[in-house]
Amino acid sequence: MTYAMIGTWRMAYEGLCKGIDLLSEGGNSADAVELAIKEVENHPFFKSVGYGGLPNENGLVEMDAGFMNGNTFEVGAVMGISDIKNPISVARELSHQHYNSVLVGTGATQWATINGFEHQNMLTERAHKIWEKRKKEIEEKNLSPYDGHDTVGMVGLDNNGSFSVGTSTSGLFMKRPGRTGDTALVGDGFYADSDIGGAAATGLGEDIMKGCLCYEIVRLMGTGVSPQDACDKAVYAFTDKLKKRYRKIGEFSLVALNTKGEWGVATNVEFTFAVGTEKNKPAIFIANPTSDKKTNIEPITQKWLDEYAKRIKAPLDD
Ligand code: GLY
Repeated sequence: MTYAMIGTWRMAYEGLCKGIDLLSEGGNSADAVELAIKEVENHPFFKSVGYGGLPNENGLVEMDAGFMNGNTFEVGAVMGISDIKNPISVARELSHQHYNSVLVGTGATQWATINGFEHQNMLTERAHKIWEKRKKEIEEKNLSPYDGHDTVGMVGLDNNGSFSVGTSTSGLFMKRPGRTGDTALVGDGFYADSDIGGAAATGLGEDIMKGCLCYEIVRLMGTGVSPQDACDKAVYAFTDKLKKRYRKIGEFSLVALNTKGEWGVATNVEFTFAVGTEKNKPAIFIANPTSDKKTNIEPITQKWLDEYAKRIKAPLDD
């Protein structure tokens, strides 16, 4: 038995470190995944998840989250929940319900409120400023309103061989009220089976959901394929198909982990992720697709990290 955790984007790193600490002390994967995602949801400078997430076109932060237990196949999810501090915790709690385990909109917010989940206004002053600026740009320059949809997804394996996967996002910036993506859809944004492994997705939900990519990656790993080969096969074959049939394609990236603690990643855009295992302490990597439908993965550079830290906290022009 071994333990490991992989998470999408650089923003996953600090939470993943906490999750890995928990796993190294014998904690279970469900607690580790929830802990790791809460860390991201609570961070005010990550613009696409939880507190500080960018709002919909009406200025409301509507969030989606999903959770799956790879032992029991319990699944819980919320879509379009608002004013709740940690959507991932609501999704995990809902996963214990046989009926009503996926809730949307005001129903999700009401259930979380009744069940004692912490309320918080999730719109930061910074996110509100970015929203106002974008509104103005859309009106003045006729720009596409849609931008930014980076989900945090974490796949965790614990020393008992149990997998859990969780996801959380504030979704597409300037989305229509009620819009959802892949994040809270099982098989699309997340999937786990403790006999095989788990996968999580980030990117344009409207396109990820066309391929059921997380289920497909876990299915491929179940045939004996390594996580890296499963990610490459699923993501690049689907990318080609979508370009051919649908004629356009959004950006997306997938991460996966198997029972040996081996991991894989595939992406159609530059993509950062964090991973830690029993053998290798948590680290951030950067991935890019190659012309031969593989994934090039390199350790992140300090320069990249410094620029990122500057970018997410850069003063906003008035
Ligand atoms: N993948 C997040 C979204 O599309 O909302």
